[in-house]
Amino acid sequence: MTKMIFSAEGAQSLAEDIASASGIALGHLNLRRFPDGETLIQILDAVKNHDIFLVARLDNPDPKLLPVLMLANGFRQQGAKTVTLVAPYLPYMRQDIAFNPGEVVSAESFAKLISHNFDRLITVDPHLHRYQTLDEVYEIPTVCVSADVPIAEWVSRHSDDSVIVGPDIESEQWVRKIAEHLQAPFQTLRKIRRGDRDVEISLLDLSDLNARTIVLVDDIISSGATMLETVQRCQRAYPNAEILCCATHCLAAPDVLERFTSAGVRAVAATDTVLGPNSTIGIANKLSDAIIQSADI
Ligand code: R5P
Repeated sequence: MTKMIFSAEGAQSLAEDIASASGIALGHLNLRRFPDGETLIQILDAVKNHDIFLVARLDNPDPKLLPVLMLANGFRQQGAKTVTLVAPYLPYMRQDIAFNPGEVVSAESFAKLISHNFDRLITVDPHLHRYQTLDEVYEIPTVCVSADVPIAEWVSRHSDDSVIVGPDIESEQWVRKIAEHLQAPFQTLRKIRRGDRDVEISLLDLSDLNARTIVLVDDIISSGATMLETVQRCQRAYPNAEILCCATHCLAAPDVLERFTSAGVRAVAATDTVLGPNSTIGIANKLSDAIIQSADI
Protein backbone atom coordinates (compact mmCIF):
# COMPACT_ATOMS: atom_id res chain seq x y z
CA MET A 1 0.00 0.00 0.00
CA THR A 2 1.65 3.27 -1.13
CA LYS A 3 0.08 6.12 0.73
CA MET A 4 0.09 9.80 -0.15
CA ILE A 5 -1.45 12.75 1.70
CA PHE A 6 -3.06 15.72 0.00
CA SER A 7 -4.59 18.87 1.42
CA ALA A 8 -7.87 20.36 0.30
CA GLU A 9 -8.02 24.16 0.27
CA GLY A 10 -7.47 25.57 3.78
CA ALA A 11 -6.07 22.42 5.39
CA GLN A 12 -2.43 22.80 4.32
CA SER A 13 -0.87 23.27 7.78
CA LEU A 14 -2.74 20.28 9.23
CA ALA A 15 -1.85 18.12 6.22
CA GLU A 16 1.82 19.15 6.57
CA ASP A 17 1.78 18.25 10.29
CA ILE A 18 0.20 14.87 9.53
CA ALA A 19 2.70 14.19 6.73
CA SER A 20 5.62 15.08 8.96
CA ALA A 21 4.30 13.00 11.89
CA SER A 22 3.59 9.98 9.67
CA GLY A 23 6.52 10.19 7.28
CA ILE A 24 4.04 9.81 4.39
CA ALA A 25 4.68 11.94 1.30
CA LEU A 26 2.62 15.11 0.90
CA GLY A 27 1.31 15.58 -2.63
CA HIS A 28 0.76 18.92 -4.32
CA LEU A 29 -2.17 20.55 -6.09
CA ASN A 30 -2.77 23.70 -8.07
CA LEU A 31 -6.19 25.15 -7.53
CA ARG A 32 -7.56 28.34 -8.98
CA ARG A 33 -10.91 30.00 -9.62
CA PHE A 34 -12.13 30.94 -13.09
CA PRO A 35 -13.77 34.39 -13.40
CA ASP A 36 -17.18 32.68 -13.19
CA GLY A 37 -16.31 31.17 -9.79
CA GLU A 38 -15.81 27.61 -11.00
CA THR A 39 -12.70 25.83 -9.75
CA LEU A 40 -9.80 24.37 -11.76
CA ILE A 41 -7.89 21.67 -9.90
CA GLN A 42 -4.58 20.23 -11.09
CA ILE A 43 -3.01 17.24 -9.32
CA LEU A 44 0.77 17.72 -9.58
CA ASP A 45 1.94 14.28 -8.40
CA ALA A 46 1.41 10.86 -9.93
CA VAL A 47 -1.27 9.09 -7.88
CA LYS A 48 -1.70 5.90 -9.96
CA ASN A 49 -2.12 2.86 -7.67
CA HIS A 50 -1.70 5.05 -4.58
CA ASP A 51 -3.91 5.13 -1.49
CA ILE A 52 -4.76 8.79 -1.17
CA PHE A 53 -5.62 10.51 2.13
CA LEU A 54 -7.27 13.85 1.45
CA VAL A 55 -7.23 16.17 4.49
CA ALA A 56 -10.17 18.59 4.40
CA ARG A 57 -11.39 21.03 7.01
CA LEU A 58 -15.15 20.78 6.63
CA ASP A 59 -16.40 23.36 9.10
CA ASN A 60 -18.54 25.80 7.06
CA PRO A 61 -18.88 22.86 4.65
CA ASP A 62 -21.18 24.12 1.91
CA PRO A 63 -18.65 26.17 -0.13
CA LYS A 64 -15.83 23.68 0.54
CA LEU A 65 -17.52 20.44 -0.36
CA LEU A 66 -17.75 20.67 -4.16
CA PRO A 67 -13.97 21.03 -4.74
CA VAL A 68 -13.40 18.18 -2.27
CA LEU A 69 -15.78 15.88 -4.15
CA MET A 70 -14.21 16.87 -7.49
CA LEU A 71 -10.77 16.14 -6.09
CA ALA A 72 -11.89 12.67 -4.97
CA ASN A 73 -13.09 11.99 -8.48
CA GLY A 74 -9.91 13.52 -9.95
CA PHE A 75 -7.70 11.13 -7.97
CA ARG A 76 -9.72 8.24 -9.38
CA GLN A 77 -9.51 9.61 -12.94
CA GLN A 78 -5.73 9.53 -12.51
CA GLY A 79 -5.66 5.93 -11.27
CA ALA A 80 -5.61 6.20 -7.47
CA LYS A 81 -6.37 2.88 -5.82
CA THR A 82 -8.40 4.31 -2.93
CA VAL A 83 -9.34 7.77 -1.72
CA THR A 84 -9.85 8.33 2.01
CA LEU A 85 -11.39 11.53 3.33
CA VAL A 86 -9.62 12.80 6.46
CA ALA A 87 -12.16 15.28 7.83
CA PRO A 88 -11.18 16.13 11.41
CA TYR A 89 -14.53 17.88 11.91
CA LEU A 90 -17.46 15.98 10.46
CA PRO A 91 -20.27 18.43 9.71
CA TYR A 92 -24.03 18.01 9.65
CA MET A 93 -24.01 15.35 12.38
CA ARG A 94 -26.31 17.39 14.64
CA GLN A 95 -29.20 17.29 12.15
CA ASP A 96 -29.65 13.56 12.79
CA ILE A 97 -33.47 13.67 12.96
CA ALA A 98 -36.27 15.77 11.47
CA PHE A 99 -37.00 18.04 14.44
CA ASN A 100 -39.92 19.62 12.53
CA PRO A 101 -42.17 18.26 9.77
CA GLY A 102 -40.54 18.40 6.37
CA GLU A 103 -36.97 18.92 7.62
CA VAL A 104 -34.27 17.04 5.75
CA VAL A 105 -32.16 14.70 7.89
CA SER A 106 -28.92 16.31 6.72
CA ALA A 107 -26.67 13.87 8.59
CA GLU A 108 -27.96 11.10 6.36
CA SER A 109 -27.81 13.16 3.14
CA PHE A 110 -24.25 14.25 3.89
CA ALA A 111 -23.23 10.68 4.74
CA LYS A 112 -24.56 9.47 1.38
CA LEU A 113 -22.58 12.11 -0.52
CA ILE A 114 -19.36 11.18 1.25
CA SER A 115 -20.00 7.42 1.03
CA HIS A 116 -20.60 7.63 -2.71
CA ASN A 117 -17.39 9.57 -3.37
CA PHE A 118 -14.83 8.15 -0.94
CA ASP A 119 -13.61 4.67 0.02
CA ARG A 120 -13.12 5.43 3.72
CA LEU A 121 -13.57 8.24 6.24
CA ILE A 122 -11.27 9.21 9.11
CA THR A 123 -12.65 11.79 11.53
CA VAL A 124 -12.35 13.02 15.11
CA ASP A 125 -15.06 12.64 17.75
CA PRO A 126 -18.10 12.89 15.46
CA HIS A 127 -21.27 14.13 17.15
CA LEU A 128 -23.00 10.84 17.89
CA HIS A 129 -26.30 11.49 19.60
CA ARG A 130 -29.19 9.54 18.13
CA TYR A 131 -26.78 7.46 16.02
CA GLN A 132 -24.63 5.17 18.14
CA THR A 133 -21.98 4.72 15.43
CA LEU A 134 -21.21 6.22 12.03
CA ASP A 135 -21.93 2.83 10.46
CA GLU A 136 -25.64 3.60 10.88
CA VAL A 137 -25.38 6.29 8.18
CA TYR A 138 -22.03 5.88 6.39
CA GLU A 139 -21.79 3.09 3.82
CA ILE A 140 -17.96 3.07 3.84
CA PRO A 141 -15.47 2.03 6.55
CA THR A 142 -15.05 4.82 9.10
CA VAL A 143 -12.39 5.48 11.74
CA CYS A 144 -13.21 7.76 14.68
CA VAL A 145 -10.15 9.22 16.33
CA SER A 146 -10.64 10.38 19.90
CA ALA A 147 -9.36 13.70 21.21
CA ASP A 148 -9.69 12.50 24.80
CA VAL A 149 -5.96 12.16 25.53
CA PRO A 150 -4.88 15.52 23.99
CA ILE A 151 -7.73 17.25 25.86
CA ALA A 152 -6.89 15.48 29.13
CA GLU A 153 -3.26 16.57 28.71
CA TRP A 154 -4.39 20.18 28.20
CA VAL A 155 -6.53 20.00 31.35
CA SER A 156 -3.69 18.53 33.40
CA ARG A 157 -1.41 21.41 32.30
CA HIS A 158 -4.00 23.92 33.56
CA SER A 159 -5.30 22.32 36.76
CA ASP A 160 -4.34 19.55 39.14
CA ASP A 161 -7.63 19.33 41.03
CA SER A 162 -10.51 19.25 38.55
CA VAL A 163 -14.04 18.06 38.26
CA ILE A 164 -14.91 17.39 34.64
CA VAL A 165 -18.42 18.54 33.74
CA GLY A 166 -20.41 17.92 30.57
CA PRO A 167 -23.40 20.17 29.79
CA ASP A 168 -25.75 17.42 28.66
CA ILE A 169 -26.33 13.71 28.86
CA GLU A 170 -24.74 12.88 25.50
CA SER A 171 -21.50 14.59 26.52
CA GLU A 172 -20.85 11.66 28.87
CA GLN A 173 -19.12 9.76 26.02
CA TRP A 174 -16.28 12.37 26.02
CA VAL A 175 -16.39 13.53 29.61
CA ARG A 176 -16.07 10.04 31.08
CA LYS A 177 -12.97 9.16 29.03
CA ILE A 178 -11.23 12.47 29.81
CA ALA A 179 -12.03 12.10 33.52
CA GLU A 180 -10.66 8.55 33.47
CA HIS A 181 -7.37 9.73 31.93
CA LEU A 182 -7.10 12.39 34.63
CA GLN A 183 -8.43 10.14 37.39
CA ALA A 184 -10.78 13.02 38.17
CA PRO A 185 -14.48 12.96 39.08
CA PHE A 186 -17.05 13.90 36.46
CA GLN A 187 -20.70 14.81 36.11
CA THR A 188 -23.04 15.52 33.23
CA LEU A 189 -25.75 18.14 33.54
CA ARG A 190 -29.11 18.30 31.79
CA LYS A 191 -29.87 20.58 28.84
CA ILE A 192 -33.10 21.73 27.25
CA ARG A 193 -32.56 23.48 23.90
CA ARG A 194 -35.26 26.05 23.07
CA GLY A 195 -33.61 27.48 19.94
CA ASP A 196 -30.30 27.85 18.06
CA ARG A 197 -28.95 30.24 20.70
CA ASP A 198 -31.24 29.51 23.63
CA VAL A 199 -30.58 26.64 26.03
CA GLU A 200 -31.41 25.92 29.65
CA ILE A 201 -29.01 23.92 31.80
CA SER A 202 -29.99 22.18 35.04
CA LEU A 203 -27.18 22.09 37.52
CA LEU A 204 -26.57 19.02 39.60
CA ASP A 205 -24.88 19.20 42.97
CA LEU A 206 -21.11 19.32 42.46
CA SER A 207 -20.28 20.29 46.05
CA ASP A 208 -19.43 16.78 47.18
CA LEU A 209 -16.78 16.58 44.46
CA ASN A 210 -14.59 19.00 46.40
CA ALA A 211 -12.65 20.28 43.39
CA ARG A 212 -11.15 23.70 42.98
CA THR A 213 -11.50 23.83 39.21
CA ILE A 214 -14.61 23.07 37.18
CA VAL A 215 -13.60 21.98 33.67
CA LEU A 216 -16.51 22.16 31.23
CA VAL A 217 -16.03 19.79 28.30
CA ASP A 218 -18.19 19.40 25.20
CA ASP A 219 -17.66 18.09 21.69
CA ILE A 220 -18.71 21.32 19.95
CA ILE A 221 -18.83 25.02 20.78
CA SER A 222 -20.91 26.66 18.06
CA SER A 223 -23.09 29.61 19.10
CA GLY A 224 -21.53 29.24 22.56
CA ALA A 225 -25.01 29.15 24.15
CA THR A 226 -24.55 25.73 25.77
CA MET A 227 -21.14 26.44 27.27
CA LEU A 228 -21.89 30.04 28.34
CA GLU A 229 -25.14 29.05 30.02
CA THR A 230 -23.30 26.23 31.82
CA VAL A 231 -20.57 28.66 32.91
CA GLN A 232 -23.16 31.02 34.35
CA ARG A 233 -25.03 28.25 36.16
CA CYS A 234 -21.78 26.99 37.72
CA GLN A 235 -20.71 30.49 38.71
CA ARG A 236 -24.03 31.17 40.43
CA ALA A 237 -23.79 27.93 42.38
CA TYR A 238 -20.03 27.94 43.06
CA PRO A 239 -18.84 31.57 42.95
CA ASN A 240 -15.34 30.68 44.16
CA ALA A 241 -14.68 27.92 41.64
CA GLU A 242 -12.31 28.53 38.75
CA ILE A 243 -13.76 27.54 35.39
CA LEU A 244 -11.98 26.19 32.31
CA CYS A 245 -13.74 25.33 29.04
CA CYS A 246 -12.61 22.84 26.48
CA ALA A 247 -14.10 21.38 23.31
CA THR A 248 -13.00 19.08 20.55
CA HIS A 249 -14.42 21.31 17.79
CA CYS A 250 -14.78 25.08 18.22
CA LEU A 251 -16.90 26.62 15.47
CA ALA A 252 -17.51 29.84 17.41
CA ALA A 253 -16.61 33.27 16.09
CA PRO A 254 -13.96 35.31 17.99
CA ASP A 255 -16.62 37.62 19.49
CA VAL A 256 -18.33 34.59 21.04
CA LEU A 257 -15.04 33.47 22.57
CA GLU A 258 -14.51 36.97 24.03
CA ARG A 259 -17.74 36.47 25.97
CA PHE A 260 -16.10 33.54 27.79
CA THR A 261 -13.22 35.79 28.88
CA SER A 262 -15.63 38.54 29.94
CA ALA A 263 -17.58 35.95 31.94
CA GLY A 264 -14.42 35.19 33.93
CA VAL A 265 -13.52 31.83 32.38
CA ARG A 266 -9.78 31.30 33.02
CA ALA A 267 -9.07 29.57 29.69
CA VAL A 268 -10.94 28.23 26.67
CA ALA A 269 -9.29 25.74 24.34
CA ALA A 270 -10.20 23.42 21.51
CA THR A 271 -8.37 21.02 19.27
CA ASP A 272 -7.23 22.18 15.84
CA THR A 273 -9.85 20.14 13.99
CA VAL A 274 -11.25 23.60 13.26
CA LEU A 275 -8.87 26.56 12.93
CA GLY A 276 -9.46 29.41 15.33
CA PRO A 277 -7.83 31.60 17.96
CA ASN A 278 -8.41 28.98 20.68
CA SER A 279 -7.58 25.84 18.70
CA THR A 280 -4.35 25.21 20.57
CA ILE A 281 -4.60 21.44 21.10
CA GLY A 282 -2.92 19.62 18.22
CA ILE A 283 -4.62 16.57 16.73
CA ALA A 284 -2.18 15.80 13.86
CA ASN A 285 -0.39 12.98 15.71
CA LYS A 286 -3.66 11.14 16.34
CA LEU A 287 -4.71 11.51 12.69
CA SER A 288 -1.25 10.39 11.59
CA ASP A 289 -1.57 7.22 13.73
CA ALA A 290 -4.98 6.49 12.15
CA ILE A 291 -3.54 6.87 8.64
CA ILE A 292 -0.50 4.73 9.43
CA GLN A 293 -2.76 2.01 10.86
CA SER A 294 -5.15 2.09 7.87
CA ALA A 295 -5.14 -1.30 6.26
CA ASP A 296 -5.94 -2.19 2.65
CA ILE A 297 -9.59 -1.89 1.66
C1 R5P B 1 -25.06 19.31 21.14
O1 R5P B 1 -25.67 18.36 21.56
C2 R5P B 1 -23.57 19.44 21.21
O2 R5P B 1 -23.00 18.44 21.97
C3 R5P B 1 -23.16 20.81 21.75
O3 R5P B 1 -23.57 20.92 23.08
C4 R5P B 1 -23.78 21.89 20.94
O4 R5P B 1 -23.66 21.62 19.58
C5 R5P B 1 -23.18 23.23 21.24
O5 R5P B 1 -23.79 24.19 20.43
P1 R5P B 1 -23.95 25.69 20.90
O6 R5P B 1 -22.56 26.21 21.20
O7 R5P B 1 -24.59 26.39 19.73
O8 R5P B 1 -24.84 25.70 22.10
